[in-house]
Amino acid sequence: MRIVAATNNVNKVREIKKIFEPLGFEVVSQHEAGIDVDVEETGRTFERNALLKARAVAMLCDDCVMADDSGLCVEALDGRPGVYSARYAGEGASDAQKIEKLLGEMKDEKNRRAKFVTSMAFIFPDGREIVTKGEVNGRIIDKPEGENGFGYDPVFYCPELGKTFAQADDDEKNSVSHRGRALKALYGELKQVVGDK
Ligand code: IMP
Repeated sequence: MRIVAATNNVNKVREIKKIFEPLGFEVVSQHEAGIDVDVEETGRTFERNALLKARAVAMLCDDCVMADDSGLCVEALDGRPGVYSARYAGEGASDAQKIEKLLGEMKDEKNRRAKFVTSMAFIFPDGREIVTKGEVNGRIIDKPEGENGFGYDPVFYCPELGKTFAQADDDEKNSVSHRGRALKALYGELKQVVGDK
């Protein structure tokens, strides 16, 4: 079964391929499928935005489509940046700028608890939809550690791994991450609908 991953984020596509390809699915990125669309994330929830992205790409192809919407929710910031994680430091800001803004807001803050959240939407060519969710708890450290991953990974310490997401390799991150968990939940649901691949 071919699945188009509705994202232009190469890191996300790499993580999705790592989990789904060994299970027998062919995963291609939106770019590899020749689809050029940039969906405005106007929803106020991760689920809404994941569905917006998946539906926009599903209209343009005959394959299965999956899209995730993810973000970092920091307890001391009342759940911000949340669905605005990508635009937290302004449109087009670099990961380093986002991290700098976050560490600025968290300066002197004792409560460092945070979680990454993903909603994963999947649409079959006949229009049926599945949405799953994944979360991982952690805390925001006060300076970046590690070179891997993307986004807020260098400042997200994951107690389950004993290191930041940026210090983990892809397999380690996928084994506990929000996206990894949402993908595994999706695989569980897909197995019930289409059987083992
Ligand atoms: P979106 O799901 O493409 O809207 O991305 C939301 C933003 O959340 C990304 O641009 C990253 O800054 C952040 N983000 C989402 N997933 C991760 C992750 O696994 N690690 C670090 N940052 C992430």
